[in-house]
Amino acid sequence: MPIKKTIKPQNRAKKYNICVVGAGHVGLVAAACFAKLGHKVICADNDKGRIKSLKNNQLPFYEPDLDLLVKRVLKQGDLVFSTSLEEGIRKSEVIFIAVGTPPLADGSADLTAIGNVAHSIADNLNSYKLIVEKSTVPVQTGQKVKETIQRYKRNNNSFDVASNPEFLREGKAIYDFFYPDRIVIGVESQRAEKILKEIYASLEAPIIVTDINTAELIKHASNSFLATKISFINAVSRVCDLANADVEKVALAMGMDKRIGKDFLLAGIGYGGFCFPKDVEAFMHISKKLGYEFELLNQVRLINQSQRLYFVDKIKEHLWILKDKKIAILGLSFKPDTDDVRFSPAVDIIEAFIKEGTDLSLYAPQAKEEIKKIFKTSQKLKFAKDPYAAIKDADCLCLVTEWEEFKKLDLKKVKKLMHYPLIADGRNVFSKDKLIALGFNYIGMGK
Ligand code: UGA
Repeated sequence: MPIKKTIKPQNRAKKYNICVVGAGHVGLVAAACFAKLGHKVICADNDKGRIKSLKNNQLPFYEPDLDLLVKRVLKQGDLVFSTSLEEGIRKSEVIFIAVGTPPLADGSADLTAIGNVAHSIADNLNSYKLIVEKSTVPVQTGQKVKETIQRYKRNNNSFDVASNPEFLREGKAIYDFFYPDRIVIGVESQRAEKILKEIYASLEAPIIVTDINTAELIKHASNSFLATKISFINAVSRVCDLANADVEKVALAMGMDKRIGKDFLLAGIGYGGFCFPKDVEAFMHISKKLGYEFELLNQVRLINQSQRLYFVDKIKEHLWILKDKKIAILGLSFKPDTDDVRFSPAVDIIEAFIKEGTDLSLYAPQAKEEIKKIFKTSQKLKFAKDPYAAIKDADCLCLVTEWEEFKKLDLKKVKKLMHYPLIADGRNVFSKDKLIALGFNYIGMGK
């Protein structure tokens, strides 16, 4: 997505010295975008290798156009990278915490990194600071951050804590930062509210001001609701399969009702990525801790997980014996325009085929190295140089991630190359009628 020229820092808007802690997806995008808005940004991360690469304009992950933006703001001197959190804190008035909150074995969020940053802030509170949570955290984390800084600070300097959850999607992160549907700020003081409003003054988006707990909860509730929408349509797709109905038409007609909305009603092999799976779990966990069993979300999670194996089962039902059959897998990341394979349906699907003794031929525009790291030793797995090489002599083409490249495949050529013309469309991107007219056998999800 090109960075539109319309995003220009407003001259009247106050510029802040900002430290973004964490150079992951959220932190790096936020740091570069704040710099583009005219603020002076230090992006601090304790991973020396990562910071070294970033200084050489090598990004740790694939995000369209982020390399260009980082290069530009680095050159202008509005963004600098540092391994010194102390320096970042001391030189900044506003500190955005964007460190990881990975899942623990019980599904709760691991807040160790947030706690460490809070301690560093307490140690380096050399003037008033506004500390803003950007990472996705369970409700009441802000209170803990505040308590920690209050307890361990070594002087009388004052500070505020705020929550400003990020809603950006991987693959569309820059666009989402500059054109958000809303900006949520959870604050406890007018000073914090004023600063955050000034930081975002150049963006034309409604700003929702809440208390900190509410802002934290908005993020978990939003991601969990979107996951629920996906699992709902996936459950409907199962009924469609049984009743010989078409889930795409069901979703289309449902989505035309403005109260339902058309987005996030694409049935398929379900959601993945580092956000929905972990946030649904973490939201269930914190709700339970507070005294409420969020049973609905448990079903959302189970439905999502079952879609992956249901997809493999459908293929098995069609091909009968999967051992030594050749299956081409197109797409590896959890969605297009990213190389992120965390909780990607592709991983479970590949694993299920390996268990069956299937020969797999894989192709994707991104994420080859990431998948290699997961399936290091498997003899059953080969990587092809392009989709046609992957498809050659295959008994089934499995569409796992809906990259644009796959939607444009020359289907006549595909049919000629295949050993047996079966397309299993895990994302419902192909027209069933068209494929059948071309002589393919077609497996869709609820259609
Ligand atoms: C998600 C949210 O959309 C962002 O608002 C949020 O900021 C982010 O998590 C986060 O918490 O950091 P992201 O994980 O990048 O963003 O991906 P999405 O575009 O939301 O897609 C999530 C998954 O749902 C993908 O695997 C996608 O294939 C799947 N999906 C999406 C469906 O299966 N069906 C749909 O209709 C839509």
